Amino acid sequence: MGHLGNFWLVLAISFAILHLSHAHETYGEPGNTPDDYVHAHNCIRRVLGMKPLCWDEIGKVAQAWAETRTPDCSLIHSDRCGENMAQGAINGSMAVQLWLDERLDYDYNENKCIKMCGHYTQIVWANSERVGCGRALCSNGWAYIIVCNYDPPGNVVGQKPY
Ligand SMILES: *[C@@H]1O[C@H](CO)[C@@H](O)[C@H](O)[C@H]1NC(C)=O
Repeated sequence: MGHLGNFWLVLAISFAILHLSHAHETYGEPGNTPDDYVHAHNCIRRVLGMKPLCWDEIGKVAQAWAETRTPDCSLIHSDRCGENMAQGAINGSMAVQLWLDERLDYDYNENKCIKMCGHYTQIVWANSERVGCGRALCSNGWAYIIVCNYDPPGNVVGQKPY
């Protein structure tokens, strides 16, 4: 690689760093407070008679992963179990709502998804006690990555959520 190549490489890295430093959390924005996330999860859990989730420090892990994904804005999971992800021009409450909408695709008796329902089964996983979420604006400037992590993680293969 010649001098010019090195120059562009350094420039690209500089921009990447600039982007990272701008990818900040959005907890202050409407629909993205810890209360918003927790409330969105606990309405359905209350209906199903299971204990509510508490907000947890794993939100920082979720936030860090959301920020890691901002350059590609893709729904690529980290290596953590118990992780829900969403992407779009949406707030945190809306992301949880989209996951909840999957309940129509869940067959409880067979414990099978008709389409996608893993986000839903994680939300209503009885043994999960804590949730923490993060949200970051993608480099494209309009879509967000939303990540929620659950502890203990749900979706244990071969088990029903409740
Ligand atoms: C979150 O997004 C949804 C869907 O766009 C919207 O209806 C709702 O008002 C938003 N919540 C807040 C608090 O802004």
